[in-house]
Amino acid sequence: MEKLIITGKTPLKGEVTISGAKNAAVAIIPATLLINGTCTIENLPNISDVKLYCDILKELGAKITWHSEHEVTINTTNINAHNIPLDTTRKFRASYYLLGALLGRCKYAQVGSPGGCNLGARPIDQHIKSFEALGASVDVSNGNITATAKKLKGTSIYMDVVSVGATINAMLASVLAEGTTVIDNAAKEPHIVDVANFLNTMGADIRGAGTDIIKVNGVKELKGNATYSVVPDQIEAGTFMIAAIASKGDIIVKNCITKHLESIIAKIIEVGGNVDANGDHLRVWYDKKTHKATIKTLPYPGFPTDLQPQMGVLLSISEGTSIINESIWDSRFQYTAELNKMGAHITSQGKTAVFEGVKNLTAAPVYATDLRAGAALIIAGIIANGKTEIYHLNHIDRGYENIEEKFRKLGAKIERVEE
Ligand code: EPU
Repeated sequence: MEKLIITGKTPLKGEVTISGAKNAAVAIIPATLLINGTCTIENLPNISDVKLYCDILKELGAKITWHSEHEVTINTTNINAHNIPLDTTRKFRASYYLLGALLGRCKYAQVGSPGGCNLGARPIDQHIKSFEALGASVDVSNGNITATAKKLKGTSIYMDVVSVGATINAMLASVLAEGTTVIDNAAKEPHIVDVANFLNTMGADIRGAGTDIIKVNGVKELKGNATYSVVPDQIEAGTFMIAAIASKGDIIVKNCITKHLESIIAKIIEVGGNVDANGDHLRVWYDKKTHKATIKTLPYPGFPTDLQPQMGVLLSISEGTSIINESIWDSRFQYTAELNKMGAHITSQGKTAVFEGVKNLTAAPVYATDLRAGAALIIAGIIANGKTEIYHLNHIDRGYENIEEKFRKLGAKIERVEE
């Protein structure tokens, strides 16, 4: 088992370049199943979820050619399987996109239940409702989800909750359907727009992505033969921005889209940090004590749940009493128990946590309970007195490319060691 050892109290200084967005990449790769031909994807993050997804496509009959760690050509002309076993799908959440993509292409998919971070209940009723609205029959039994259709027909789908996964799956299943599908109360995250842009580049006709009504005009075929570059990861950018302020540092975050970071920029400035945007670069720096804030996580363009734990670290050392209300996931405060081991004063109950700011955190052995919790603990280790050890790195490796290398370049004393 590997662990990270971080010797803390280092202000971060220098430049960091943001990788392609994990949550866009893990939707775009399965979306290639809708293409009858070849496409090239650039700016993929070098993370284990991306590798795993490409391996799954290979099992299904796709030809995968890597040009570098970040660029792959996928040929999906000869897809010859439609079943993905539970052992594979439970390794990550985004396996649910295989349902929409295979249903769209083959009118049949049998996919084991999705896994991923344990953030509480993660229902997929809105995905299933969308497939059924398009004309599919869906059966959930023995750990598998099976969707079958004679044909898929455009329809109106109203999402009862704003869901990233269900919005993308509804797009995937309707791109090759007959007629027009209207997805109402759609999610608006940058990765929704990225998946729509990718599909349109390959020959789809999707309009309105990024608003709450998406219109998909079904087309007969996606020919592909094009290259697409994945959007920069706004959560990775936000993670480094928060780390810069928490560590009392001064960094340049390169390759980011400022528009996608508005809610995080606003909160960083509200607590006393500084941000200066210049094209695709951001300077983020500390020059005075940070103070309390109230945060409620919301679907985009609200404050993202995927930056909530990282922001929790900053609030735990900011003056005053802060409150975070987590409105997306039932169980995203598991990291607070780990931070309390490091001297934080956080009380969480249900979907609310109260942070009484302390002067310092002190090193302790801690466990990454999920991906973003892991990123939060790295920030905590960088600002703490002493040597912090972080375990369960598999969560972190699923979603951050070379995270310790990137922090090391910013001056953090961080190393990965085999136990
Ligand atoms: N929901 C339902 N029914 C559904 C689908 C969702 O009730 O059919 C509820 C969920 O329980 C949750 C809310 O709707 O309360 C939002 O869930 P959503 O479907 O948007 O989440 P997801 O697609 O499963 C993606 C990201 C998560 C991120 C959320 C919210 C991927 C692979 N995962 O999950 O990312 O937290 O959107 O933005 O895109 C992460 O990267 O660390 C991560 C957990």
